[in-house]
Amino acid sequence: MRESLAAITEELRRLKLAGVTTVPVADETLARLRRVVGRRPAVAASRRAANAPAEAPVPPAVANPPPAPVWPREAVRPAAVPEPLRTPPEVRLPSGTKAERWAALKALVAGDENGRAHLRPGKRVVLGVGSLDAALMFVGEAPGAEEEIQGEPFVGPAGQLLTRMIIAMGVARKDVYIGNIMNWRPGLPTAEGEEQVGNRPPTAGEMAYCLPYLRAQVEVVAPRFLVALGATAAQGLLGVGAFKTLGEVRGRWHDFAGIPLMVTYHPSYILREPTPRRKRLIWEDLLKVMERAGLPVSDRQRGYFLER
Ligand code: URA
Repeated sequence: MRESLAAITEELRRLKLAGVTTVPVADETLARLRRVVGRRPAVAASRRAANAPAEAPVPPAVANPPPAPVWPREAVRPAAVPEPLRTPPEVRLPSGTKAERWAALKALVAGDENGRAHLRPGKRVVLGVGSLDAALMFVGEAPGAEEEIQGEPFVGPAGQLLTRMIIAMGVARKDVYIGNIMNWRPGLPTAEGEEQVGNRPPTAGEMAYCLPYLRAQVEVVAPRFLVALGATAAQGLLGVGAFKTLGEVRGRWHDFAGIPLMVTYHPSYILREPTPRRKRLIWEDLLKVMERAGLPVSDRQRGYFLER
């Protein structure tokens, strides 16, 4: 249940950044949430005991809450609790071909003790993927469940949608480069032996730690254009605190390391609510990228997702 609450909190934070101010909640759902939140003091106490990050203030319990479950301390996997990260790595790549420099970076990231300390057994650190000669580089948030298994960004449901978006632009996935702000899946406390349920956005510290790896990928690939997918990617590239809501920066050109950067929504914005309006919003941002990149735009493409 804690994971579900963390996932709900993460989703609400994401929606807030995307400019959403109200969320309809059915009375029954609200009552169930109140029952669960009313039990939280015992959980919060055991989390603090396990040296977990501080919880948000606990709302008052509802009348006659069910008995609070005791979360045994040893059942919380310490590796899943974000540990303080050291100073961001200094990345110095050898001279050589793009492929040689990228391979050196890959080895550096794979061997990063800090990243490995945050991995669960059998899971992988994830570096970007794609053409080292790409004109377009997409930047997402962080690996999720599928990505940490396969060791490749954007291979889960959001990734499949991103691939379709790229194809709609008239480009093949293999011809672009796709990276993330963070190189491992941000952890959530999980009962021993169980898989992590849900995701959380990276903390500012985690983003700052991984940024040199993203910069190095930008340096090696040297794309002509960058596309930030969602609020976390935009924060990572423009700076945490550079904007309050994604609406302030999306659909406009910015700059990262001298490269034009377009900010748009994360594909999960569509997965959550696949309406023509949402698809069109992202598509309009991608049309701007196509136009600036000199990609052909047909009348049919120009009209995608316009409601009739
Ligand atoms: N979402 C992201 O932002 N990145 C991934 O790699 C997968 C899902």
